[in-house]
Amino acid sequence: MRTGIDRISFYTTRYCLDLKDLAAARGADWKKYSVGIGQEIMGIPPPDEDIVTMAASAAKPIIDEVGVDDIDLVLFATESSIDQSKSAGLFVHGLLNLPSRCRVVELKQACYSGTIALRMAAMMVAASPSSKALVICSDIARYTLGSPGEPTQGCGAVAMLVTTSPALLSLDPEYGVHAEDVMDFWRPNYREEAFVDGKYSTRIYLNSATESWKQYTALTGRTLSDFARCCYHIPFTNMASKAHDRLLKDSGVIEDRKAIIEAQVGESLSYNRITGNTYTASLYEGLACLFDTTQEPLDDKRLGFFSYGSGSVGEFFSGVVTPGYRSSLYSARHKHLLESRIAVDIQQYEDIFNLSIPSDGWDYSFTEYQTGSFRLAGMQAHKRIYEMVR
Ligand code: HMG
Repeated sequence: MRTGIDRISFYTTRYCLDLKDLAAARGADWKKYSVGIGQEIMGIPPPDEDIVTMAASAAKPIIDEVGVDDIDLVLFATESSIDQSKSAGLFVHGLLNLPSRCRVVELKQACYSGTIALRMAAMMVAASPSSKALVICSDIARYTLGSPGEPTQGCGAVAMLVTTSPALLSLDPEYGVHAEDVMDFWRPNYREEAFVDGKYSTRIYLNSATESWKQYTALTGRTLSDFARCCYHIPFTNMASKAHDRLLKDSGVIEDRKAIIEAQVGESLSYNRITGNTYTASLYEGLACLFDTTQEPLDDKRLGFFSYGSGSVGEFFSGVVTPGYRSSLYSARHKHLLESRIAVDIQQYEDIFNLSIPSDGWDYSFTEYQTGSFRLAGMQAHKRIYEMVR
């Protein structure tokens, strides 16, 4: 039975910081950001947006189009969790008026958990073919101010509807996976910013890609030329290019690697270049970007995917694009969202960064910024209060 992605909707916040301004403030060469790591702008979450508001705003266009009736599963993947007990998915369940006969959980394994959520959702709809699942990946990437990771911050969410008649992509059953217990990137419960051993993390990422790919290619007999395009987890865009380069080298491709990388990976990178790392969402933001921006029709073409989450788990998998997929995209909405953002200056960025959610149990109302369809209105007795804006 075919299972896979029926709709994909991306959301990022209304605010952003031009990395030229960050480079000037940190005394860095702008080209280190734009050329060296491949990033130009990063998304900034205002104080009244969090993983829940981003997730609900990402999912709303899907709900508006297909309704809620057959959705009986919400899998919420994140590493920016807002509660140790209650799933962020339940707040979204409330905001979107999802049915009460609906399983809702939150999943965590750094940036990888969106992929296991997608796979679990596919298995669960296969067991009950008239049902639909909502997979949501939502994250805010935060590193210490002034650290090497700072220019790779970002924020965003991707919502995917998973069904047995997927209008966009059918998942192939095969996968290669590589898990190892490493400390390349982590965030203890008492910290708001991640710790990262940056250079080490890039080596682990590449090794994980190699090991996952080795298994996948041995299982399927497919080579990289069997994929029309490949999408990667994108902590910064050059990481995806380096990973594809590594797999090409592993496959014995010596010549024209730069052109091949541009052709197979280039079109999936432009959203990330201007939002920054969206952790669990970034691989799927890349897929939405590819679908929205490619000139060449991808109908019936096979796509390759590498998902990576620090700590670490990597998975190489694939899927085949559904004929006629273009009529089920939200490309114009994504374009408008990215083109209408408001730039903040360095002072505003740092002020927003340094604000944290009060933890004293008093009642707070948050200043109203521009948001998507939902906002975090405030706190009451340690409870987050969300509201619909439009
Ligand atoms: P850094 O160490 O400050 O940068 O930060 P660098 O000195 O390595 O320079 C970066 C690149 O820019 C180098 O190119 C330089 O040569 C080049 P490369 O050798 O890599 O090809 N460069 C320039 N190019 C042009 N003009 C210039 C110039 N100057 C330098 N003037 C680092 C880089 C990635 C370490 C940092 O950004 C960082 O720590 N980032 C966060 C960690 C990260 O993103 N790791 C990626 C793999 S782990 C992962 O993907 C998981 C993650 O998403 C989390 C999760 O799973 O939850 C992070």
